[in-house]
Parts: sequence; structure tokens; C-alpha cells
Amino acid sequence: MPVRSWFPTLIYSEPLQPAGLDCFNTELADECRRLRQFDAAGRRWSAKNYPGGYTSYASMNELHRFSSTFTDLERKLLRHARAFARALDLDLRGRTVRMSDCWVNIMPPMAAHSLHLHPLSFISGTYYVSTPRGCPGLKFEDPRLDRFMAAPPKLASARAARLTHVTYPAEAGRVILFESWLRHEVAANQVADERISISFNFQWV
Ligand code: NI
Repeated sequence: MPVRSWFPTLIYSEPLQPAGLDCFNTELADECRRLRQFDAAGRRWSAKNYPGGYTSYASMNELHRFSSTFTDLERKLLRHARAFARALDLDLRGRTVRMSDCWVNIMPPMAAHSLHLHPLSFISGTYYVSTPRGCPGLKFEDPRLDRFMAAPPKLASARAARLTHVTYPAEAGRVILFESWLRHEVAANQVADERISISFNFQWV
């Protein structure tokens, strides 16, 4: 085959740990809901910027520094971030990989999260705490989409890795990591129950 693939976009998806996830997620879900109750500033910010949902993104975004449950999560996620960095062939010597931000997202019915990326970090991701059946996944966009000038459409039979979007299902207990420049979104939650996730950024500093 004379054609080779270059400049791949890597996405990492793996269970947080082999066992004990139900118990850990119950603890996390409780803490996320308590945080929403407690965080009046976050609820106000969410009412304006995250319609229908709650996020602590603008109010309490360093949860790994204030809660032992989230510190525990940070420690578990760091191992995955390092594995992802190895897959990316990154040379991490000389500085430290550190979680810079960690925040909660609660999406009740009809809440959505529009297309965005995560500035000021190199690896970002989401950990799924509670994912009712049928809740929306995490949809990624081909980073070259704005350069596809006059391109014909893809065949119905096109290989998944050739398409312009891919959606990873939200699955409680699973970690998804991506390079922070990769744009992504979450469609509106169409089911009756709340979808809970924790998002985070890693810096190399
Ligand atoms: Ni995001």
C-alpha cells in the first residue's frame, strides 16, 4: 500500500481500576451532589453558562486539593495520564506532570455541553461517575475539520478512523484522556436521570 498514515490523533479509554469501582463511584456521586448543594457561586455560574446543569468549573476547580476522595482520584488518574503520555512518545523528563484543575459536571435531563477545548494544559480528560442508560457520550471532532475545503463526503462504508467525528460512550468507571487541543462536546442528556462526570487537566510544569 503506497499510502501511510501520519499525525495521528490519540484518545485513551480505560477503566480507572480493575475492581472496587461501584463503591468508589457511590462515594464520588454523593460528594458531587453535596458539592452542588454547597456551591452557591457554582450554581449561579452554571445557571448562566451551563443551562440546566451544574458544573464547579468556575467556582471549585481544584477539588483534588480540598477533598481526600478527589485526591485519591487524582492519584489514580495520574497513572493513566502517564500511560497516555508514553503512547504519545512524550519526553516528560525535567518537569513534573501535575493535575492543575479538577471539577464536577452534573447533567440533568436536557443539559448539554457545547464544543470546546481545554487551554493551558497538555492532557485533559473525564472520569465517569454515574451514567444512566442512554445518556450522551463524549463526541470528538477531527482537529483538521476547519481545513477540509471542498472535500467530498465520506462513503457510507468509510472506516471509523476516517470519519470527522467519533463518540465515546459515557460508561461509569471509565477514564477518557485526550490531548487538550482536541475539541469535544456532549449532546443534550435525553434520559430522565442525572449524568455525573469529573473533568480534569494535566500540566507539565
Ligand atoms: Ni471538556
